[in-house]
Amino acid sequence: MQSSVKHGEEDIAANDLAELLFAATPAATVRNSYRLTTPLQNPSIAHSQVRMSEEAKPLTVGNNLNLEGKVAFLCGASSEKGFGWAIAKELADAGATVIFGTWPMGLKIFERNYKKKSMEDERRLSDGSLMEVAKVYPLDAVYDHQDQVPEDVKNNKRYKDLAGFTIQEVVDQVEKDYGQIDILVHALANGPEVTKPLLETSREGYLEASSASAYSLVSMVSRFGKIMKPGGSVVSISYIASRQVIPGYGGGMSSAKAQLESDTRTLAFEAGRKWGVRVNTICAGCMASRAATAIGGDGGKPFIMKAIDYQEANSPLTGKFVAEHVGKAALFLLSPMAGAVTGVTLPVDMGLHVMGLSLDSPAFA
Ligand SMILES: NC(=O)c1ccc[n+]([C@@H]2O[C@H](COP(=O)([O-])OP(=O)(O)OC[C@H]3O[C@@H](n4cnc5c(N)ncnc54)[C@H](O)[C@@H]3O)[C@@H](O)[C@H]2O)c1
Repeated sequence: MQSSVKHGEEDIAANDLAELLFAATPAATVRNSYRLTTPLQNPSIAHSQVRMSEEAKPLTVGNNLNLEGKVAFLCGASSEKGFGWAIAKELADAGATVIFGTWPMGLKIFERNYKKKSMEDERRLSDGSLMEVAKVYPLDAVYDHQDQVPEDVKNNKRYKDLAGFTIQEVVDQVEKDYGQIDILVHALANGPEVTKPLLETSREGYLEASSASAYSLVSMVSRFGKIMKPGGSVVSISYIASRQVIPGYGGGMSSAKAQLESDTRTLAFEAGRKWGVRVNTICAGCMASRAATAIGGDGGKPFIMKAIDYQEANSPLTGKFVAEHVGKAALFLLSPMAGAVTGVTLPVDMGLHVMGLSLDSPAFA
């Protein structure tokens, strides 16, 4: 006798349910995606396109890590010390065309630095050539469209000569230049009150952290998603303060990272069904990037240097944690190698997240 489970208005026999979950033939998959579809989604076209592109090539490491012909848009990748830059290098090394969305506040510095001879080592790829950023778009990720930009920002010397720096304007320009993109990287965060404990954080500071560091991902996925190819992939960067208490990482930034991880799951569902796009986040270990160094400290050692010391003293893996570790993990998530991976928060932190006590605590000396 077959047992059955209730599924919407249908009763589905257990055998049918197994088929529904593990269906292998294209016919069964089309039928099942119809059964699983809600009014929110219409995945059958996107899913069949993804399947076709996957079927076109055998599943080998060489094919799946060859990103030639793919276009990757990266926001927050303009500092050679940061995670975004490391991801850009891995993508460029794999053959992708990389284009940047760069915060107007740092645009001039980036353009100046990028051309310097001293940057050549930072741009060097594994075959000795230099990473080329095909195009740089000014992008302030706290604005979706021009109506939201305050007058003082419009008139600011770093913004006033820029053609369009809101997320929608950049999406429109990228569409004009490239048609569609394959990869979207969100490697940015900002919280003006990051040094304040949550108890002392103002409403404005909290909401600014959330807007720049979390809603920016929602806005970017919803707007870029429309010009992403089926099978496309999004990666952002989170931090363990989303789930565990990290004194010194305040101002609502821990809240923003919790949002980022939660939104990753919901966006994975919605963007997966709508466009066949995957959405994942990497929960990165501590590294002295420009943004992290700017957090400062309480007069003594900067927060990030203490956090790195703690990480090195207490992680299961004792080697030096570098941006390249995140770059390589992101390459995996952004490539067809991770074709069935979506909605995950992947810790890339030398394993620190599994520890339940501090090895260097005086209590265990
Ligand atoms: N460094 C760490 O220890 C660490 C640890 C975990 C997670 N992260 C996360 O990694 C990501 C990248 O940061 P990073 O540490 O590599 O530093 P970074 O300085 O290389 O990158 C931060 C970027 O954010 C950009 N940015 C800030 N506000 C912006 C805005 N409104 N619009 C567009 N861009 C804006 C900056 O221009 C900069 O390029 C962030 O999400 C950060 O929270 C960092």
